[in-house]
Amino acid sequence: MLVRIRNLVKEFDITGGWLDQFRFSGGRIEREKTIVRAVNGVSIDIPEGRTVSVVGESGCGKSTLARTVMRLYPPEAGEVYYREQRIDNLSSKELKPFRTRMQMVFQDPYASLNPRMTLGKILREPVHFHQPKLAKGEVRDRVAAVMEQVGIDPDWQSRYPHELSGGQRQRISIARALTVEPEFIVADEPIAALDVSIQAQILNLMMDLQEEHKLTYLFISHDLSVVEHISNQVAVMYLGCLCELATAEELFSGPRHPYTQALLSAIPRLGKRAGHERLSGDVPSPISLPPGCVFHTRCRHARERCRREIPVLSEVEGGSRVACHGVEEGRI
Ligand SMILES: Nc1ncnc2c1ncn2[C@@H]1O[C@H](COP(=O)(O)OP(=O)(O)OP(=O)(O)O)[C@@H](O)[C@H]1O
Ligand code: SF4
Ligand SMILES: [Mg+2]
Repeated sequence: MLVRIRNLVKEFDITGGWLDQFRFSGGRIEREKTIVRAVNGVSIDIPEGRTVSVVGESGCGKSTLARTVMRLYPPEAGEVYYREQRIDNLSSKELKPFRTRMQMVFQDPYASLNPRMTLGKILREPVHFHQPKLAKGEVRDRVAAVMEQVGIDPDWQSRYPHELSGGQRQRISIARALTVEPEFIVADEPIAALDVSIQAQILNLMMDLQEEHKLTYLFISHDLSVVEHISNQVAVMYLGCLCELATAEELFSGPRHPYTQALLSAIPRLGKRAGHERLSGDVPSPISLPPGCVFHTRCRHARERCRREIPVLSEVEGGSRVACHGVEEGRI
């Protein structure tokens, strides 16, 4: 296994100024913190050379999960293993060798590329940082090679990001991740900001690069239809929790968790096939998570047990893993 994520928890303290922290309770002043639990005990295995996608509505914790795995955020609990070495508790210095092996591609290719740097400088910078001993000629050759691989003319090194289209900018973001020759790429909504006509080109490029460089992807998307053809495994998140983890084939042909069923039914092409009910109601606040199953406030299959007991992710027939009492009881 290239990456193992175990019971990962990430919280944000969003308590305001010091005045906001104090409450009167029973005649006494008490200090109170406001905590958002963005990732709530997530476990996922990411096999080498494969693509695992994480999907779910806005705010369910996908980006936070991605950033915590990359150790851009320290987790509150849980573990991350890279080639069986625990990395979530390493110091920045100890983490440095892993930083070349793990790279990230972000949603907005304009915000993530420094507008004052030429493409050549943007692409050379990570190599200078991670491999300072590499000869100048080798850096130049590597930058030219990755530009070619992502379909950008290597002669464009003196151009600036604003001279490129959105799709070309995202190609440069991907090239920048590749310059340090990583094994694992976390792509957080890499096509969400692009025109629909360009999205397929970038997905195809990512799949070609995966084959060529034996890359492993953790692919984040709010859109299930995007991940259908590129994923080996799909993890569905709701309010920081994992609802279902299945092969893409299993998930799209027979979604088991009521939330996955609702997400699929929102895609016209797939919804017709699935025939499940669409979602209604709002996502509850991540500051005070519902007790029991976090989805119970929107689930039409909810029963008393769902309001009390947190369902655990368990294997069901077909090999998928689902966290749902209704599925476990055989009534869904
Ligand atoms: N730096 C932060 N400080 C405080 N709260 C945060 C921070 N980052 C995320 N959150 C909160 O954590 C929860 C999960 O956010 P996150 O950005 O991970 O969701 P997401 O699934 O990536 O959403 P989207 O699809 O909109 O990108 C949200 O409630 C969000 O408001
Ligand atoms: S555990 Fe209960 S509330 Fe949660 S998804 Fe299953 S049936 Fe619905
Ligand atoms: Mg996000």
